[in-house]
Amino acid sequence: MDNQMNTSENLYGVGALFKDPNKIVKVVEKLVELGYKHWDVHSSYPLHGIPKRMRLKWSPLGYVALILGLTGTLTGLFLTWWTMSVDYPLTIGGKPWFSFPAFVPVLFELTVLLASVGTAIVMLFIIFKFPNNQHPLHDTEYINKVSVDHFGVFIEAKDELFELEKVKSLFNDFGADEIIEIAYDRNEVTFKPKVFDVKFISFLVVIAIITSSVAYLFNNKILYLPPFDFMLKQFRLGPQESSTFFADGFGMRKPPAGTVARNQEFYPFKNKPDEAGMKLVNPLLATQENLELGRNKFNTFCSPCHGWRGEGDSRLNGQFPNPPSLHSEKVRNWTDGRIYHVIMEGQNVMPSYASQLTEKERWAVILYIRSLQRALNAKQEDIQ
Ligand code: HEC
Repeated sequence: MDNQMNTSENLYGVGALFKDPNKIVKVVEKLVELGYKHWDVHSSYPLHGIPKRMRLKWSPLGYVALILGLTGTLTGLFLTWWTMSVDYPLTIGGKPWFSFPAFVPVLFELTVLLASVGTAIVMLFIIFKFPNNQHPLHDTEYINKVSVDHFGVFIEAKDELFELEKVKSLFNDFGADEIIEIAYDRNEVTFKPKVFDVKFISFLVVIAIITSSVAYLFNNKILYLPPFDFMLKQFRLGPQESSTFFADGFGMRKPPAGTVARNQEFYPFKNKPDEAGMKLVNPLLATQENLELGRNKFNTFCSPCHGWRGEGDSRLNGQFPNPPSLHSEKVRNWTDGRIYHVIMEGQNVMPSYASQLTEKERWAVILYIRSLQRALNAKQEDIQ
């Protein structure tokens, strides 16, 4: 160590060691009285009352924190305003876009974040000049002793009132156990800030690479979860696509036998009941089989409103307007095609039954209606 170079221009200051804390209090009072500015007290534990006697000024760090905190608030204000009412305005619960109460947590968090982290950074890098950790008192007998069982007062040579002999005799007057002169060592004299030091920068870069690759490895490899997109990517075929699933290779299938899809059928007599009545002809014969089918479908789909025998005696107990009898002169004189049209399109309050019945079933129902009409309105020749 070159601590003891001791030429006057290299002198950092003079320190006095005391075993008795009461002596220190006296020295402090004297130094304040004489008006010294650059001096300090060192102790291995807090000496209550000393800071007050030293007349220490408030640290400027509070103002730093205040300014950084306000910067955080303003940043938060701008961020919320810009994102929520300019860049991507979203109406949430009918509230205005700039809904201040909702943004208070953001402002609060940013204020605290910038104030705390920023203050720590300012302290480290600006006040303590990190990564420089050199200080003339480091590794000296003086600092070693005050960290164990001594109390120290140190006056820096840069103080305007500093005169080596005067300071030494002052310490002596107050009964110092030891007086030590401390000089800058060579490293401290030739000190340059190390923030831009190649070693330091490479150290930071290495740390950044290691942390980001560890994070990447964990998030994307070790703990990787596939995105939940199973709703998005379903196994299905688009129209006209072929498929190896079915023997015929077609992706599109015919509807299962006996089903009629809604709007699947083309009906050429839309809104043309008279034309339907004239042009449509029942293709079915009144066989036992067709009549059975017709009765089955009539009982299922028509009888709830029209009654078992089509007499208009609805079983819905007035929940739906009662339909007219199917045995009226009018319906008896209608062609099959005209009744078919009512099944296809409905009539006033009666809905269409086109999607419930296949074409064959419709005609079969009409055959059955005809047989009901004939049964309730039998002619002489029907009996013979
Ligand atoms: C939900 C009840 C309901 C069902 C089920 C129903 N209808 Fe109707 N139907 C009516 C009503 C109500 C009318 C009268 C409509 C009007 O005011 O023009 C009617 C009218 C008719 C008419 C015309 C009668 C006329 O005098 O104008 C025919 C024919 C008919 N229905 C046949 C059928 C057939 C066939 C079925 C079975 C496939 C059927 N209906 C099922 C309620 C129903």
